[in-house]
Amino acid sequence: MDFLDANESDLEAGRRALMGGGVGGDLRMVVDHGAGASLWDKAGHEYIDCTSQAWSLNVGYCHPKVVAAVGEQIKYFTHIRTSFDTVPKLLLAKRLSELGPGRLKKVSYSLTGSDANEGAMKLALRNRPGDLFVTLWDGYHGRTLSTLNASWPHPDNRFKAWSGPVLRVPQAYCYRCPFEMSYPECRLFCVRFAKRTIQKAASEPPVALMMEPIQGNGGMIDFPADYYPAVRAMCDELDMLLIWDEIQTGFGRVGDWFAANVYKTVPDILIIGKGLGGGFPIFGMLLRDDLAPFHPGDHSFTFAHFPVSMTAALATIEVIEKEGLLERSRRLGAEITRRLNAMKAKYELIGDVRGPGLMIGVELVRSQKTKEPAFEETHRFIAEGLKRGVIFGEAKYSKLGNVVKIKPPLVISEAQVERVLTVFEEIVREISR
Ligand SMILES: Cc1ncc(COP(=O)(O)O)c(C=O)c1O
Repeated sequence: MDFLDANESDLEAGRRALMGGGVGGDLRMVVDHGAGASLWDKAGHEYIDCTSQAWSLNVGYCHPKVVAAVGEQIKYFTHIRTSFDTVPKLLLAKRLSELGPGRLKKVSYSLTGSDANEGAMKLALRNRPGDLFVTLWDGYHGRTLSTLNASWPHPDNRFKAWSGPVLRVPQAYCYRCPFEMSYPECRLFCVRFAKRTIQKAASEPPVALMMEPIQGNGGMIDFPADYYPAVRAMCDELDMLLIWDEIQTGFGRVGDWFAANVYKTVPDILIIGKGLGGGFPIFGMLLRDDLAPFHPGDHSFTFAHFPVSMTAALATIEVIEKEGLLERSRRLGAEITRRLNAMKAKYELIGDVRGPGLMIGVELVRSQKTKEPAFEETHRFIAEGLKRGVIFGEAKYSKLGNVVKIKPPLVISEAQVERVLTVFEEIVREISR
């Protein structure tokens, strides 16, 4: 395609024209192409991508089966508005309903994670009185007006003016317990505290608790296994709905279809997206089949039923199944965390290694004893990774910037895993010197 053969000054003019305000943008890498777990820039450098493009390419870049399915689909139609049925839309709803744990048998589609979460908030409001939502410290749910305000406190938050009431309660961040207690002796004091706070703060039960089962952008924080059923029980006792934002954790990232399966706890609404689309935009929710549905027009967007994304999602689910990617994520994840924990015994810089499957976070500290966060070192770590051809993720928002993320496509090869671990240790050694 001729128009893609731009020269450097065209590209620079484009950069100047962009307003900004997103996240990232500091890489200045122009992508040429990707395959499997690797991406190549225009200068021909190859990088192993441990970020899966915002944790979305679970089946890798341009998976041939996804590309082939989409190539076939677009011969027939591309955009079809929500009023019409299409085969991909119906087949995908059937498939998602089959995968939904417990009673999560109903499906609703969205185009972005923020609008899916906002849809869940709307659905919760249709099912419960009141207006208060509860969220967790360091949670992240998106950047629309309501989801931004339901996330961690956004800096310089001019947008609060348009937000409903949100109560944030401390989460089970056991490495840095908000109550300076230790697990399991604490007997999940954070859940008891949350319950009491909600009862004291609200004159009527909140509508819902919205949380990520593993906090991704907030620092890769997974919780003890008994936290999940305890939170479920609290919501039931207080008659509030439980919404799990599984936008990052779904579709193999944690070694199963959903974190709900891993932690054997079923929320009332489960948000899906990212990895589902195999590189195409599709989000949505799985909801309990006995919840009151939306009223006509409550949640509808022009491209929300984009059949091309639905086709890609169907192909992606098939790839995850046929290539055994759930098992692969569990196996490779266990190996990587085992090796990182072995490094932790050698290097003071490694404070905590977290996460099931290929949803791995490593918290870097200046001293394992004081746990002083190693912010600058983490920033340097990411830059050193790039120089060596590995893109590591970085938790860098809301002052949570000392976590390195390893969340590659689930199709990453064993040789690439070795390379990532070698580079990881090389950088830790260099920074520790
Ligand atoms: C857990 C979680 N929720 C919501 C979102 C927002 O999704 P989107 O950027 O598609 O609006 C993200 C995106 O990073 C996410 O990780």
